[in-house]
Amino acid sequence: MKEWTREERYRVLQGPEEIRGLYDRIQKSVYRQRYHVQPITGLSSDPNGFALHKGVWHLCYQWCPWGAVHGLKYWYHVTSPDLVHWQNAGIGLKPDCYYDNRGTHSGSAISRGDDLVFFYTGNHRDEDWTRTPYTCAALLGDDGRPHKLEKPLFGPRDDHSEHQRDPKVVWNAANETYYIFIGAQTLDKRGCVMVYRSKELLSGWEYAGELKVPGYEAFGGMWECPYIVNISGRDVLIFSPQYTKLPGRGESTNHNVYFIGKMDYDTLTFTPDGPYHHLDYGFDFYAAQGAASIGDPDRAILIAWIGLPDNHYPTEEEDWEGSLSLPRELRVKDGKLIQTPLPEIKSLREAEVPADGTLPAACELEVACPDADFDLNLFTREDGEGGLRLHYDGARRVCTLDRSGMDKRFNIPVGERLEMPLERPLEKLDVFVDRCSVEIFANDGEATFTTHAYPTPREFHYTASAGVGVRVFPMRASVTDEFVV
Ligand code: FRU
Repeated sequence: MKEWTREERYRVLQGPEEIRGLYDRIQKSVYRQRYHVQPITGLSSDPNGFALHKGVWHLCYQWCPWGAVHGLKYWYHVTSPDLVHWQNAGIGLKPDCYYDNRGTHSGSAISRGDDLVFFYTGNHRDEDWTRTPYTCAALLGDDGRPHKLEKPLFGPRDDHSEHQRDPKVVWNAANETYYIFIGAQTLDKRGCVMVYRSKELLSGWEYAGELKVPGYEAFGGMWECPYIVNISGRDVLIFSPQYTKLPGRGESTNHNVYFIGKMDYDTLTFTPDGPYHHLDYGFDFYAAQGAASIGDPDRAILIAWIGLPDNHYPTEEEDWEGSLSLPRELRVKDGKLIQTPLPEIKSLREAEVPADGTLPAACELEVACPDADFDLNLFTREDGEGGLRLHYDGARRVCTLDRSGMDKRFNIPVGERLEMPLERPLEKLDVFVDRCSVEIFANDGEATFTTHAYPTPREFHYTASAGVGVRVFPMRASVTDEFVV
């Protein structure tokens, strides 16, 4: 693994030609995906600035151009007419000001009239590496690119630690006020959300206080990427708590969870109806963000980073890593969040191929489950050994996934085996495979499991227990991967 000096990680990109060679090289990787957004070069992490504006979907990702390393972060911008077909639109935000000299960190967007407004964290660091996070804004210009405002909207508060970032902007129609939710840490290192409010989007921001979440005053050490949304009259709070292990999640200290409950904007209290839930039970799912301004009160559209902070992935050797998940629909049913693939994704299906134990590198599997315990093993060798092994235990209503059998093993210390618990008996799985990622939707969205997997040439097989019905649909490419910087 390459050791990066700070100077290398934080190098400013002077022009596209500096990364042309890297782009050409990684295009040849067998792990480049066909229908997922992935970094043009280097590393992609959190989704940012996800919104529908004048009929176009805008999405950015945290991007480090130089390689598979968390260094100087840009926003890289992609657009889509339909959330399925994506094209590269070039750099979204550049860290080229005093207040974002060490990164344009995560944030959101909102469409208002003619304007698409982006909010992000300017990650300033002094010579001695002391961090000062600023909340900044940018506007989509006529050239189709975001343009930063001259000055930040506001700086950090000293009643919280330096961890104050990831502004998520929300319009609360009831009191006609905008709110910004910021992922934060208290001075005694507890994770929390700071809330700002204003009647205007680009001025007048005042600190409203810390969001109270009764029962969760000491839950992890930092809450990254907060997102709050009302779906069918219920409030959903999603965030990524860090610096804590959670039951059943191996050694990982990075998680993505949600509550369903009631948000009171007067008292700044989010009262959960019950315990937290994992947004996804897989190994690699983090920093999820919902699209703004979609104009549908009964659903949200969510996208996440397929990856986790602190982890390392095999494509590091090829100088790139990371990708975004498929956008998924969120609904609330019987007090639970239901997550389903967008129906439009089916348009990428090619003609069904025989379920003969061969696994196409990019495909969708529709799996009908028997009323019994069963196994479904993906990326096995021809003899059925190895691979990503799924076992369903009907008595416990739990799926266990184990990736330790694959040729390319990675992130072994955080654990290679995780469980996806279900409330209902498992009847159906919808599995999306795309060269180095797997997303599993159980029982029409009751629970999901997202993971990277890097099959070697001998691993393109699968096996299933008797009674498991598998239908295989190869998938077309829908993400154009052109060199736009
Ligand atoms: C989450 C995160 C954010 C931050 C960004 C920096 O993965 O740590 O909190 O804004 O990544 O890339």
